[in-house]
Parts: sequence; C-alpha cells; structure tokens
Amino acid sequence: MNNDCYHIPVMLDECLEGLDINPKGTYIDLTYGGGGHSKEIVKRLSPEGHLYGFDQDLDAMKGAMQDERFTFVRSNFRYIKNWMQYYGVEQVDGILADLGVSSHHLDEGERGFSFRYDAPLDMRMNQKGKLSAKDIIGNYTEEQLADVLYLYGELKQSRRIASAIAKARAKNEIQTTGQLAEVASPLLGYDREKKDLARVFQALRIEVNGEMKVLKQMLDQATDILAPGGRLVIMTYHSLEDRIVKNHIKGADKKDKNHTDAHAMIFGQTKTVLKAVNKSVITASAEELARNPRSRSAKLRIAEKS
Ligand SMILES: C[S@@+](CC[C@H](N)C(=O)[O-])C[C@H]1O[C@@H](n2cnc3c(N)ncnc32)[C@H](O)[C@@H]1O
Repeated sequence: MNNDCYHIPVMLDECLEGLDINPKGTYIDLTYGGGGHSKEIVKRLSPEGHLYGFDQDLDAMKGAMQDERFTFVRSNFRYIKNWMQYYGVEQVDGILADLGVSSHHLDEGERGFSFRYDAPLDMRMNQKGKLSAKDIIGNYTEEQLADVLYLYGELKQSRRIASAIAKARAKNEIQTTGQLAEVASPLLGYDREKKDLARVFQALRIEVNGEMKVLKQMLDQATDILAPGGRLVIMTYHSLEDRIVKNHIKGADKKDKNHTDAHAMIFGQTKTVLKAVNKSVITASAEELARNPRSRSAKLRIAEKS
C-alpha cells in the first residue's frame, strides 16, 4: 500500500513538542493511521526507546512501518491497558491520540464514509465491527436517529432529517451513501448543503464507531498508565470530543462518585493527577491552515501527569 497520500499529519510539530520525547522513553500513538506522527516519533528515539502504534483499521496495519523500535497493535484503543500489560509495559512516557477518521477513510469510496462517492453505507473503522451505518439508518427509531444527528452532527434540522429518513425507508431500504444524501439534501440550506451533509455523515460515523464512549474509556486508562511527568497529547475535531478531553484533564468528569485510579478521591474532593500544559487549546498555525484543510477543525490539548 502506498502510504504517501494516506493522510497528511495535523499539527505535527506541536504534537512532537507536546510529547517532549525522551529518546530512551516508551511512547504510544493510539491512532497510527498513515503513521505521519509515529514515523517522526520513532526518528527521535534511540535504540532503547520504543513506540507502540494502535489502529483498529486493517488498512493502517497493512501500511505500518517496520522498525526495531516500533510495534503495531491492531486493536481499538479502548484496550490500551490490556495490551500494555500483554507487552509487559507498566508505565509509558507519552501518549498521543489524533482522533477520528483519516483522509484515507474519506478517499476510499467503498468504505462509505463520504458522500463524494456512491457506496454502501458502511463507515466502520474496524472492518470487523458489528454495526454499520446501514444498520443505524435501517433499524434506529426516528427519535434515536434524530438524537444521533443532533448530538453528534449538531444539526438544527435533525428531527426533520430523521423524519425524512423514516418515510423514505418505509418505501425502500436505504443502502447507499447516495440514497442517504438524496433523502437529506432537500432539508439542508442551499448555501450549506455540503457542510450539513458532512455533519450528517459525521454523526453516523461517530455512532457506528462508538467514538464518544471509547474516548472516555481510553482517557481513563491512558492516564493510569502514564508515568509521573508523562505527557498526554490529544487532538480532536469535534466540540463534543474536545469537551470530554478538557473535562478529563480538569478532573471535572470525576467529581462525586465516579472515582478511578486516574483521579483519586480524598474526602469527597477530586485530586486531579493531570495538569494542563497549555492553558488554552492549541489550534493550527495560519501556514498549516492554508496548506492542510483538515487542520481547520483540529484542537490540541496537552497534559502532564503529576
Ligand atoms: C486522524 S487518523 C490518524 C492519522 C495519523 N496521525 C497520521 O498522521 O497518519 C485516526 C486513525 O485512528 C484510528 N482510530 C480511530 N479511533 C480508533 C480507536 N478507537 N481505536 C483504534 N484506532 C482508532 C482510525 O482508524 C484512523 O486510522
């Protein structure tokens, strides 16, 4: 597989700086994709250092780099702790996650992530995953569909789109990206049609891949396995994801009873173990924004374990 056009890494320098790499350290890239970040991390490691690269996508695995200092793990990152246990690694010095889909997913029409191609409604990042976008469009109730579109697509017209889907599927099964676009498009503003359609597809993709749930599971585990002084570097492309990451770093999601190892509770107060390295969220430079459209919605947060 030619990996040159798989994905252009976003905020590469900022991520590397955020990881503050120790050449002899152990690192994890939870979202290998085309390896844009991983390859640069490995370049900064000595023979004693090591990088573990996770991705649940078979295509990412096929293109994974070969290097003594690198191990590819084909898995959902929700199992990060189990895998590190398997490799006999108790603590790591830095963890990077560059969330969401890669350009490869959007460019490979048959994966069903994009309305640019007419293809089966799939959208599974893990080709062995059980739930596809077609299952959601065909089987969710109208209310469930509206909730998904509203929550993960932030679409004002979520109820109307859900109702149009319900009416259309009662006549004929909606099987392809093209059929879905045909049903949703008349309800989207003329000047915003492409942007809103992208949000419809984004919402479905997030639901198919359970992205919000696995993000929370990953953040807890990642924080647990970081060594003191270790860095957590997380890049998001959606406000809901960014809020989850921000609250995790603050420990806000752990107040009250949801105690985990990552945020110890002492006398009813949360003792946060992460400290934000940057007070405000980091966004791409003007130069990168001009060169890489994907960087437009990217938000980077860096935290250090105390
Ligand atoms: C934005 S891309 C990463 C691109 C990469 N940083 C690069 O420069 O090439 C996100 C990648 O993470 C993978 N991914 C997303 N969620 C995942 C999860 N829960 N577990 C494992 N891999 C995941 C996707 O399959 C995709 O390849």
